[in-house]
This record gives sequence, structure tokens and C-alpha cells, in this order.
Amino acid sequence: MKAPPLKTYLPRSLLPRTILIVMVPLIALQLVVAFVFVQRHFEGVTRQMTRSIAREIAVAQQVIDTSPTAAIAQLRLQNLSEPLAITLDLEPLETVSGDNLRLWYDLSGRALIQEMTALLGPDLRVDLRSNDRMVDARLQTDRGVLHAIIPRVRVTASNPHQLLVLMIVVSLVLAAIAILFLRNQMRPILDLADAADAFGKGRSVPFRPAGAEEVRRAGNAFLSMRARIERAIEQRTLMLSGVSHDLRTPLTRMKLTLALADDMPEAAEMNRDLNEMERMLDAFLAFAKGDQMEEMQEVDLPGLIAELAEQAARSGILLETSVQVETPGAATMPLREAAIRRALTNLVNNAARHASRVRLTLRLTQRAANFIVEDDGPGVPEDKREEVMRPFTRLDTARNQDKGAGVGLGLAIAQDVARSHGGALDLSDSPDLGGLRCVFRIPR
Ligand SMILES: Nc1ncnc2c1ncn2[C@@H]1O[C@H](COP(=O)(O)OP(=O)(O)OP(=O)(O)O)[C@@H](O)[C@H]1O
Ligand SMILES: [Mg+2]
Repeated sequence: MKAPPLKTYLPRSLLPRTILIVMVPLIALQLVVAFVFVQRHFEGVTRQMTRSIAREIAVAQQVIDTSPTAAIAQLRLQNLSEPLAITLDLEPLETVSGDNLRLWYDLSGRALIQEMTALLGPDLRVDLRSNDRMVDARLQTDRGVLHAIIPRVRVTASNPHQLLVLMIVVSLVLAAIAILFLRNQMRPILDLADAADAFGKGRSVPFRPAGAEEVRRAGNAFLSMRARIERAIEQRTLMLSGVSHDLRTPLTRMKLTLALADDMPEAAEMNRDLNEMERMLDAFLAFAKGDQMEEMQEVDLPGLIAELAEQAARSGILLETSVQVETPGAATMPLREAAIRRALTNLVNNAARHASRVRLTLRLTQRAANFIVEDDGPGVPEDKREEVMRPFTRLDTARNQDKGAGVGLGLAIAQDVARSHGGALDLSDSPDLGGLRCVFRIPR
């Protein structure tokens, strides 16, 4: 089994990542510095202090050696104990044995034992384990064992706790300040992401570039891009509706002329063509107007489905509807209602033109509203699905002439509407009806 890559353990968002990138080397550096410093400082001080104590013990040893009897030696040691502030004692019948004892983590103890042995010779046993506040040293002399008990504070540098605590506290305070500043740096990036996200869904929210220069540049680039796209949409709308509108006037005039010249044999045919042209112009206008002008508003989705079914019934289409709610919650969404209606009506009309059964399903999930239009008609072959969504594309216009040929804009308009809401239109096969299945998906 392969271990998952390191990436899976790393935080996903920018703030924790930045903190990690800044903090890990800092903490590592601090640990190394603290360890090296504490270790060296400690050992140095301990060795110095140990040496002076060892000399005092050496003095005591000499006192014993120069005393005529053990009893006198003992008396002299007692006199010495007080000014030296070391408990000194002579145990005449003993001899030193055993090993030097220390706790495994007592690093300064190792230096202490080394230093004492170096000065007082090998006949020395130090016990640091029985009582970690005292140094219990036994030294072999000619008259027995010299037993010295020295407070540990006199041989070892005092604990480095203050330094460590200070380092940790200062680090924490600095880290908190850094996090505060980082958060402020993060906010403009989040704002930019929100504005871009909203624009993708067809909303133009107010946005002002802020923050560091790089972020500001990205923000300005986004603003000019948004302005350019908005201008392009506006121009397209203006141009198409202008063309359609201007063409309508001569068209009306021609129809009028034709009505007056009704004795012409081709009049009926020309009239049919003119009507066709008019219908196309209407479709262009609808496509051009698009949905850009409409404001977003909260729409009750199940209500919308019911209204669409009623509307379909009026034009003689029996629309089977159903609503599936995967995650209970709000059944309303901000939408451009007229545009959505137009898109869904297009899909339903297509289905009604090609099939006898039409079903409209609303499936609400946590992330999206899916409007699914299915039918039992011939469907669209897989390699044509991209194509039919392009404007002015029709398949096999002969096959449904009786129900009126379209302009080829229905699916293009529906896709446009889906995209302007940040969604998509997908065509596939209907698994249970057998015809075409259009999934019109709008993310929340
Ligand atoms: N439900 C469907 N079943 C089978 N073919 C379909 C279906 N919907 C669309 N098509 C095919 O896709 C083509 C494009 O559809 P689209 O709605 O864009 O244009 P149209 O219906 O021909 O014209 P318009 O909708 O502008 O009046 C149609 O001509 C048709 O061949
Ligand atoms: Mg159509």
C-alpha cells in the first residue's frame, strides 16, 4: 500500500499554510538555539562550580590526612563544615564501592562527575540519584571514607526554565500578532474570490481592490476584465436588437404591400416566408435581449415548476412534474426568473415537439438546483449534442415539419441562461423514458 502524499496532511487554505511556512523554520531555529545555548552554558557553569567545591573537598581530605587520629580528624572536619557550608563526615570503617549514580536525563550531572573525578582521583563515588537536590560524594582516605553532602545548587547552574518560558511566551505573543496581520492580508484575496465567484454566477457585486500590491494588481485586472465582458455583452445586445428592430420595419412594409397585391399568384408563398422571417426576428430579439437586464430575485422553485406545468397545459402539453429534495432546506434561490422560465419553456417545447411524454423534475441538492427535462422521443445522437446547443443549429428539419420548424435558438438560449447563472446545460439519454434528457443546473 502506498502512503498518501504529504500534501494530504497539509492545511488547504492560505492562512494556515502561511503560518506553517513562517513558523516551522522559526520554531526549529529556536529549538536548536535553545538546546545548544542551554547545553553549553550549563555545562560550562557546572564545571566551574564543581571545580571550586572539589577543591574544598580536597582541603577536607588534607585535614584528615594530617590529623594524628581519626577522632581529631572528625573534630576538625566538623569545624570546617560550618564555614564551608558542606556537611562533612568521616566514616572510619568504610571503604568506597559501587558506581557513580545519576539520573539518565541529568546532563549537568555527567559534567559534574567528570570534573570531580578529574580533580579528586578515581577513589571517589558520587550519588546524584538518591536525592536530586544533594550531591552525595564519598572519597577514600587513609583513615576511612570522607563523606560530603553538598547542596546541588552550589555545583550546578540554576535551571534554564526562565529562559525557555520567556522564549515560549514571546514566541506565542509574536505568533498571535503575525496571525492578526496575516488575516488582514488574506481578506482582500477572499474579497476578490467572492467578487469573481459572483460574477461567474452573473452577479456584479461591488468590489474595490485592496491589500498588498500583487493582490491589488489581480483585483484591478479582474475589474477591467469584468468591465470588458459587461461592455461586450451590452454591445452584442444592442447590436442584435438594433438589427432585429430595424429589419422589422421593412418587413412590415413588405407584408402591407403584399396584402394590397393579393392578385399575385406567389402571394401566399411569399406571405409564408415573411411570417417565417418575422418569427425568426422575434427569436433573435429574445436571444439578444437575453437576461442581462433582469434583476435577480428570490424565486420559489417548486412554485415555478407548478406554474410551468400550468402554462404547458394551456398550450396543450401534458407535463409530468416531480420535485426531489435531497437536502432539506430553503427551496428558494436568487434567479432571473423570466430568463429561467424562458429557458425551461424552450426545453419543454423541444421535448413536446419531438415526443409524446414530457417530464420535468426539480432536484434540489445542497450545492445546486437541477431542472431535468426528459422525453420519450428519438433523442439526440451523442456526437451531435455539442452542436445542437450552438445558435441556429437544427437537426433533420424535415422530420417535424408538421409541428413547425424552429430557428435553432432554443437550446442556445437555455445554455446561455444557465451559464449566466454560473450553471450549465447538459444533454444525455433519458434512462427511463428513452428520449433526450436535458439537465439544467444552477449552483447555489
Ligand atoms: N427533445 C428533443 N428531442 C430530439 N431532438 C431535439 C430535442 N430538443 C432539441 N432537439 C434537436 O436540437 C435542435 C436544436 O434545438 P433548438 O431548441 O436549439 O432549436 P429548435 O427547437 O429547432 O428551434 P427554436 O427552439 O429556436 O424554435 C432541434 O432542431 C432538434 O433537432
Ligand atoms: Mg427549440
